[in-house]
Amino acid sequence: MIILVSGATGFVGGAITRHLLDAGHQVRALTRSTARALKLYASHEVGRRALAENRLTFTSGDVTRPDTLREAVRGVDVVIQAAQFTGAPVENPAHGLTYMAVDRDGTLNLLSALAQVYQRPTADPALARYPEGAPPFLYMSGISVAPDSPFTWDQAKWQAEEAIRGSGLDWTIVRSCWAYGPEDKALNRLLGYSDHLPLVPVFGNGKQPLTPVFVEDIGRFFRLLVDHPERARDTTFRFGGPDLVRLDQFLELALQAMGRRRLILHIPRSVGKLQGAILQFLPSRPLTPTAVDFVAQAGAISEADRAFLAERFPEFRATPLREGLAYLRKRG
Ligand SMILES: NC(=O)c1ccc[n+]([C@@H]2O[C@H](COP(=O)([O-])OP(=O)(O)OC[C@H]3O[C@@H](n4cnc5c(N)ncnc54)[C@H](OP(=O)(O)O)[C@@H]3O)[C@@H](O)[C@H]2O)c1
Repeated sequence: MIILVSGATGFVGGAITRHLLDAGHQVRALTRSTARALKLYASHEVGRRALAENRLTFTSGDVTRPDTLREAVRGVDVVIQAAQFTGAPVENPAHGLTYMAVDRDGTLNLLSALAQVYQRPTADPALARYPEGAPPFLYMSGISVAPDSPFTWDQAKWQAEEAIRGSGLDWTIVRSCWAYGPEDKALNRLLGYSDHLPLVPVFGNGKQPLTPVFVEDIGRFFRLLVDHPERARDTTFRFGGPDLVRLDQFLELALQAMGRRRLILHIPRSVGKLQGAILQFLPSRPLTPTAVDFVAQAGAISEADRAFLAERFPEFRATPLREGLAYLRKRG
């Protein structure tokens, strides 16, 4: 079985790929730089073993360039889409780095490539169908995605989800909460302030409810989805960790794991957005007003979400926060 992973060099897609490879699966990693991807996978044991056993190959492609995707999707048994634009959540429209261009249109381009390669005509020239065995499409979505969300990241992913649901392929959507782990950008960036400062600044009041998820859990979960397609077909999972916390508590637990105590400084969202409105004009574009909204949002699953997941995948156990954050001891 060959699994195409779009986003295989990323934080989440990397975890998914490692778990698939560790389970003995064959992965074709879609990347804009095969040289960089090879270097990444040659740097760890799971990748080296898969490379030696010819179970990991790289295909050069860009989800914003439809012409690069047909060969990538040919001959695969599963497609996993976990790509997002470089620099997220700070959009850069001048360089095509936006939720709509990459998260939405990139997904639409992958679906279109699949249609071109796999669809078969029917008696009606306007209608085509997928034959038995066309690859199912697994999509990494976000916890806040909803049709009526005012935010562009949710709208982009909602529109991508709708296209997936209407594609005619078997599909599974995972709407995940904030993922943390050694390679993450968001939590590490916040904790980075504590390297030099007696405080950790955050946008908002720090009270937003979260169920942060250990990135390895996402990897293990996608492995289960691939191994048990019958339990996941045409299903949306809302996915998160086992502990419901406020942002402040999450940070305090992370700091505790590092053996540090720091004040958490709350910067009102309006002040952050004002900063973003100015900083977005710097060449490095470190912040935008929408990025402030993104990082200050809530994101938690409910007991009903947990129960649904447990019903479909009773063997799955999510990692408790204290256990997941233990990797931070080395940073402390
Ligand atoms: N991180 C979280 O906490 C979290 C939580 C919930 C949902 N998600 C979702 O999970 C997905 C992955 O997030 P992440 O944090 O893993 O992102 P990330 O670390 O920034 O990884 C981005 C990945 O996308 C690929 N990519 C970027 N532009 C591309 C393009 N034009 N064509 C092909 N590939 C492209 C990159 O590959 P190359 O550079 O090798 O081409 C890289 O592998 C996103 O949809 C995100 O919304 C993330």
